[in-house]
Amino acid sequence: MSQAEFVVVANRLPVDRDAEGGWRRSPGGLVTALEPVMRKSEGAWVGWPGKADLVVEPFEFEGTQLVPVTLSAEDVELYYEGFSNDTIWPLYHDVISAPRYKREWWNAYVTVNRRFAEAAAEVAAPGGTVWVQDYQLQLVPKFLREARPDLTIGYFHHIPFPAYGLFSQLPWRRQVLEGLLGADVIGFQRVADAGNFARAVRRQLRYETKASGIRVPLADGTSRVALAKAFPISIDAESYVQLAQRPEIQARAKEIRAELGNPARVLLGVDRLDYTKGIRHRLKAFGELLEDGKLSVEDVTLVQVASPSRERVEAYMQLRDEIELTVGRINGGFDTTSHSAIRYLHHSYPREEMVALYLAADVMLVTALRDGMNLVAKEYVASRIDNRGVLVLSEFAGAADELSSALRVNPHDIEGLKDAIMRAIEMPPAEQGRRMRSLRRRVRDHDVEDWSREFLGALAAKKGE
Ligand code: G6P
Repeated sequence: MSQAEFVVVANRLPVDRDAEGGWRRSPGGLVTALEPVMRKSEGAWVGWPGKADLVVEPFEFEGTQLVPVTLSAEDVELYYEGFSNDTIWPLYHDVISAPRYKREWWNAYVTVNRRFAEAAAEVAAPGGTVWVQDYQLQLVPKFLREARPDLTIGYFHHIPFPAYGLFSQLPWRRQVLEGLLGADVIGFQRVADAGNFARAVRRQLRYETKASGIRVPLADGTSRVALAKAFPISIDAESYVQLAQRPEIQARAKEIRAELGNPARVLLGVDRLDYTKGIRHRLKAFGELLEDGKLSVEDVTLVQVASPSRERVEAYMQLRDEIELTVGRINGGFDTTSHSAIRYLHHSYPREEMVALYLAADVMLVTALRDGMNLVAKEYVASRIDNRGVLVLSEFAGAADELSSALRVNPHDIEGLKDAIMRAIEMPPAEQGRRMRSLRRRVRDHDVEDWSREFLGALAAKKGE
């Protein structure tokens, strides 16, 4: 295994195993985001291959060295499903679901974070740069700095960082802050997330913070300054434009509308099946509009793509039951033999099909109760090369900071949500165009390449400081 100047460390490797035991590139946003950087730098990527007990030697994939970290079935249960997705995830999303604090889970989180840090320490070249990704690996920056003080270390937090009053529930809050502060640059989605982090550091560790700088004391009595700042992530906007221009994808969009019975308006929701996404609130508002007689299934269909996620975590099982019960009730009450109220799809789809869905949808509903960014909102906007369509966007999604020409909603306010849905359905084409052009400009002007360039630029500035 050769050493790499640039190393990404993420919970997941950028590949999925196919049925034949081969590897194909996984469709996720982060993978696409970092693909150009990886290609240019001949970097390495440290991550979990996605299956318990899978032992794989490092291998090369499309020019990147992949370094698999094995997780046992127990690691998956305690570190991934437990501490990452049943403690940190709900806590950092404003306790929408109650976080569970279990010492056994925390111990596994520490052990597994150490394992990722060791793998990164082994593959990084002297004086190299390591970029750690997301909440599953908050202790890696510290462990890595201890093992390899020569490295420049970045960390990007893809999910919200909660207000201090919530964060302080965490029994291991100091260790987590110290873990993150091992990085030279700590990136967040929103200015508010960076602010919440700095406040937690002041309150818990009593470190001094000035503008985006945090003064971290060192053992020898000196100090260093870590940068904690917002770097909102984006998408590869151009690739969505190109897909949307393809005649077969446009034809597929028409076909989807025809398959739905050519309703006057198609509403669309696209989410991982997660309690942070506000799917229940969306269904409630839509169901009430049908009940009030404001909408009829002949005229309006809601397509809800809910891709399977974290299916062994209790809160996700419960959510699935509730959503499927609600969809069944609404459809049972309002469907006709020819038209359905909700077309519910518990699948994930290739990007081509997603773009066809975006083109088929008059209204995109993003009603997250809390969301780090929400890239679906940006994908919808990027795909609307016709400057039509309406984005209804929750103010609790990070994307709301940038996408100010969307119809903003508070998803907890069901009446407000119903009004926004009606307004979106009835919006005249001229207003759609005005709003969509402004949204598209923002997404084009700040794409994912800008994101990684800005973050890595800030990190490079720290090198040798
Ligand atoms: C969010 C997180 C990612 C995570 C993804 C899918 O976007 O920020 O870190 O990879 O969800 O979740 P999963 O648990 O399947 O990796």
